Amino acid sequence: MIRSVAGALALLALCCMAVPAGARPVSVGECAACHGEDGIARDVEVPHLAGQNERYLYNQMLAFRSGKRPHKEMRVMSRQMTNEEMAALAAYYAALPPR
Ligand code: HEC
Repeated sequence: MIRSVAGALALLALCCMAVPAGARPVSVGECAACHGEDGIARDVEVPHLAGQNERYLYNQMLAFRSGKRPHKEMRVMSRQMTNEEMAALAAYYAALPPR
């Protein structure tokens, strides 16, 4: 867990130019460690993202970053993201088939 977060931070620091709409955002690889490659989480502590409402996903990421929705890991993840990346990630996961 700690290693994946550290790796995520390292990668997010390297990547992260604006992602074209509809494309698979680079940072998805980092989310996959917890939320699954297909947006279906394997861990009962982690929510599925696939097929979730796009606006909801975007708002949750903003809330994690602002601290309005408190959560240690997602706070760390969301701090590395621009609004554009959050929007791209929300669109990406919303388009995946739900379980
Ligand atoms: C280290 C594990 C981990 C990583 C990596 C991670 N998440 Fe999360 N994420 C979680 C957990 C755990 C929750 C549930 C938070 C809670 O209980 O409030 C969550 C919640 C969320 C939610 C809210 C879902 C809902 O149904 O309310 C979104 C959106 C989200 N994550 C997006 C992402 C994105 C996008 C990435 C990649 C940039 C990412 N997460 C990376 C663990 C992780």
